[in-house]
This record gives sequence, C-alpha cells and structure tokens, in this order.
Amino acid sequence: MLHRAKIAVMSVNLNVNLTVNQHSLLSGIALAEMRRLFDAEYRADFGDWDPDGPYGYAPADWHVLAWLGRRLVGHVGFQRRVIEVGGVEVAVAGTGGMLVAPEARGCGVGKRLLFRAQRSMIKDAKLDFGYLGCRPAVVGFYESAGWVRIRAQESHTDRLDPALTVVNDSSPILICPALRPVTEWPNGDVDLRGGAW
Ligand SMILES: CC(C)(COP(=O)(O)OP(=O)(O)OC[C@H]1O[C@@H](n2cnc3c(N)ncnc32)[C@H](O)[C@@H]1OP(=O)(O)O)[C@@H](O)C(=O)NCCC(=O)NCCS
Repeated sequence: MLHRAKIAVMSVNLNVNLTVNQHSLLSGIALAEMRRLFDAEYRADFGDWDPDGPYGYAPADWHVLAWLGRRLVGHVGFQRRVIEVGGVEVAVAGTGGMLVAPEARGCGVGKRLLFRAQRSMIKDAKLDFGYLGCRPAVVGFYESAGWVRIRAQESHTDRLDPALTVVNDSSPILICPALRPVTEWPNGDVDLRGGAW
C-alpha cells in the first residue's frame, strides 16, 4: 500500500505554463516572483537575490519561467557570450539559475525548463551550444535532459572578486547542442572571458 502511494506521488504531472522572457523586458510581477523563488532557496546562506548579478554569478539575458497559476515555481536563465575553447571562439548560452521550488520538484518541471531553454538558444538567441557548470550531485539531472559532460580546464573570473581568475579542472562542465551538435565542440581549455553562470 505504502509502495503504491509513493508511485502515485512520483508520477504527478504539474500543469505548469512556461514563458520565455528577455531580461530587459521582465515585468514587475515576474521580477517579484523570481525574487520570492530565489530568496526562499538562497537568502539565508547567500543574501538577497540581485537580478543583475545573482550571488555574484553572471546575469542571464533570457529567462525561462515555469508558472503554476500566478505562482512562479521554476526558473532557468542563459546569457549569450563568445568564449574561447582551445583557441577558437565559440558562441554559447551560459546557463544558470536553475531552480525549481521544493513543492514542485520531481514532476519534470526542471527538465521541461531545460528543453524550452534549449529551443530558445536556437530560435531566439541563435547560439551554437548551451554551457554550464554545476555540482557533481546534479550532473544526472542535466544529462537526463540531453546535456553532455565534457572534460576541460576552465578559467573564469572569480564570483566575488572579478579581478581574480579562477582555474577549474574538477567541477563538472556540461554542454548541450543548439545550432551545432555536441560533436563539433572544439578540444582544449575553456576561457569563459568573464564570470561563470
Ligand atoms: C535540480 C532540480 C532543478 C531538478 O528539478 P526537478 O524539477 O525536480 O527535476 P525533474 O523532475 O525535471 O527531473 C528530471 C530528471 O532528472 C532526474 N533528477 C532530478 N534531480 C536530480 C538530481 N539531483 N540528480 C540526478 N538526477 C536528478 C529525475 O529523476 C528525472 O529523471 P528521468 O527524466 O529519468 O525521470 C531541483 O531539484 C532544484 O531546484 N534543486 C535545487 C537547486 C539546484 O540544485 N539547482 C541546480 C544548480 S546547478
């Protein structure tokens, strides 16, 4: 009986509505709901959410929002940037701010947000690849939405002190196909030419 109940809960499909918003055109309501979503998750440890520099990370210029009625229950954002990979310039959608409200997790909302973001990377922003860094614990989540882990040394400016450069060769980096397939990702070290997302 207990086992059956658990399966029923896990298969709940939330009827969320996804919107794609340019950062500069976000409504006051959307901004207020984003602040509520991020503050609930991170305020105690990282302070107030700042739309133009969230927790010191690079800001998004496109946001995909998941709405349950008027309540925002999920977000992912990306920023266009030309980075350098193995000495070659690559136009990526630097992806971050992936967050689903605790009460909406495990229902496929995160995955739907990533698929919608990928479509926007292609249709709206016309970028070659999605790019992100994450904790090892969530690699499987991104892989479930078609992202692929790459191995490379990555340098970027420090989250709290942009005058410093951070070199990372252990934290997970993942890419997703957009205008180009992942097989065309160049070999070599990655220079983000700015802060991480
Ligand atoms: C990680 C997070 C965004 C996942 O969102 P979600 O809506 O619960 O995920 P989904 O329900 O869409 O899951 C999609 C798939 O990923 C899997 N998955 C979800 N969370 C996972 C995790 N932490 N590790 C590995 N796989 C995970 C699911 O089992 C599901 O697999 P399936 O497609 O084979 O069924 C959400 O848990 C969250 O907001 N966590 C806190 C913030 C965070 O860690 N963000 C990532 C920062 S890099």
